[in-house]
Amino acid sequence: MVSRMLSFGLAGIDAFPVTVEVDISNGLPAFEIVGLPDAAVKESKERVRSALKNSNFNFPARRITVNLAPADVKKVGPVYDLAMLMGFLCCDGSLQGDFSGIGFIGELSLLGEVRAVRGVLPMALKARELGFRALIIPAENMPEVQYIDQLAIYPVHHVRDVVDLFTGNAVIEPLKPIEFSPENEEDFQVDFADVKGQFIPRRAMEIAAAGGHNLLMQGPPGSGKSMLAKRLPTILPPLEFEEALECTKIYSVAARPGQDLCRTRPFRSPHHTATYVALCGGGQHLTPGELSLAHNGVLFLDELPEFSPQVLDSMRAPLEDNEITVARANGTVTYPCNTMLICAMNPCKCGFLGHPTKACTCSPGEIQRYRHRISGPLLDRIDLHIEVPAVSYEELSTKAPGEPSAAIRRRVLAARKLQIERYRDEGISKNADLSSPQVKKYCVLSPEAEQLIRKSFDRLDLSARAYYRILKVARTIADLAGSELIETIHISEALRYRSNENDQ
Ligand SMILES: Nc1ncnc2c1ncn2[C@@H]1O[C@H](COP(=O)(O)OP(=O)(O)O)[C@@H](O)[C@H]1O
Ligand SMILES: [Mg+2]
Ligand SMILES: [Zn+2]
Repeated sequence: MVSRMLSFGLAGIDAFPVTVEVDISNGLPAFEIVGLPDAAVKESKERVRSALKNSNFNFPARRITVNLAPADVKKVGPVYDLAMLMGFLCCDGSLQGDFSGIGFIGELSLLGEVRAVRGVLPMALKARELGFRALIIPAENMPEVQYIDQLAIYPVHHVRDVVDLFTGNAVIEPLKPIEFSPENEEDFQVDFADVKGQFIPRRAMEIAAAGGHNLLMQGPPGSGKSMLAKRLPTILPPLEFEEALECTKIYSVAARPGQDLCRTRPFRSPHHTATYVALCGGGQHLTPGELSLAHNGVLFLDELPEFSPQVLDSMRAPLEDNEITVARANGTVTYPCNTMLICAMNPCKCGFLGHPTKACTCSPGEIQRYRHRISGPLLDRIDLHIEVPAVSYEELSTKAPGEPSAAIRRRVLAARKLQIERYRDEGISKNADLSSPQVKKYCVLSPEAEQLIRKSFDRLDLSARAYYRILKVARTIADLAGSELIETIHISEALRYRSNENDQ
């Protein structure tokens, strides 16, 4: 007799259905798993055998074959344990019932406990999309799926719970879905009100948030670069439900199962020793990297020149495409990474070049080498370049708080609204994503502004790239001012946020 149970596999951050077929036939005792299983799937044999025994069921001393279909896709991890065990119970008649349209997800312990697995949220979304009747999941994974409606989800702790569910020995209620509520200000631990002075960096943060621009800050240690970066999520538009699901899916497949739904935009700050895999994703267990963990949020690279130049270079294409493709043994997977890149660096290795009171101890050669560690093409992806000077004692000791995040965010939201309406038919939603032809179409300058940028172009010897970058930033500055036409003041402010070394 053959039984069929449904379960799921993962491809990137999406799930696909897998049918677990169990066949028990007469013959010499044997246990075979086919259908491209990896080592963890093969080890299911031992876990299922012990879990059955320790849940007071017999393990049949017959010829057992398990097939995982579709057979041409690699199956990874211990997620199929529970479906296999159910297949056994159904196949040898220990359990009767209609199991069609029910998904089983979970790793088993030798004692029959159901353990958390990766990717339960994408699996639940797929189950709902395919019209499943119910989904059985490890109780530990419950937090990530509690917002999913229109699907009966049963969190279980032990094989006994699952058996009880189908024999009717105990009444188990499905999860009651919670309604999503957008974040409120209390969800943040930090606020722009904490930042004293620093008017130009604060303004640059506001522009970056309003147009989705990447930003590079340069300044001595202790000037507040990290402090500013950490506060960026507090002025970005609140996370929408669909975005929240996307973020949580990434966390769910990244071996952090059982997290609550993300309600604020992610802020990731990987250390500068981060490897290619840590930043971009991949590796033996195929997980998303920091770039994807920062999806819909902020990726902060502190001490930018300390990162490996090769690793930084490999981020260029993903930053352009908003997704990253990772190669694996058979084929590739793609993770989304639509993230705002915020970088910070000291002006030189010791950090005090240009400091009003402290002396720089670097040689000219050291200063050159330090700056050259960041490639031009990466700097080209960064629209805003600013100096963050050391704060003065007067500024720091003032009692007056800075402008709070909530007020800045209101202006950012108004500017974003203009962009969403303007680019409705273009498939983009913010100024940072404008292509060069789109810049020509949407960045209309007043005659005086036109004249100003022409003059600057010659005087500063600007490159074509720098030209488009300035126009994009000026577009955002005009949007913050509620002006459809780009005027001289918008261009002259945008000219301030360009980097000198990179414009030649
Ligand atoms: N503008 C500022 N207003 C208030 N506190 C500041 C300011 N700049 C720096 N600080 C204080 O100095 C500390 C160090 O700042 P930090 O952001 O780590 O500097 P950096 O990253 O530039 O080295 C902060 O935690 C904060 O307490
Ligand atoms: Mg810092
Ligand atoms: Zn120095």
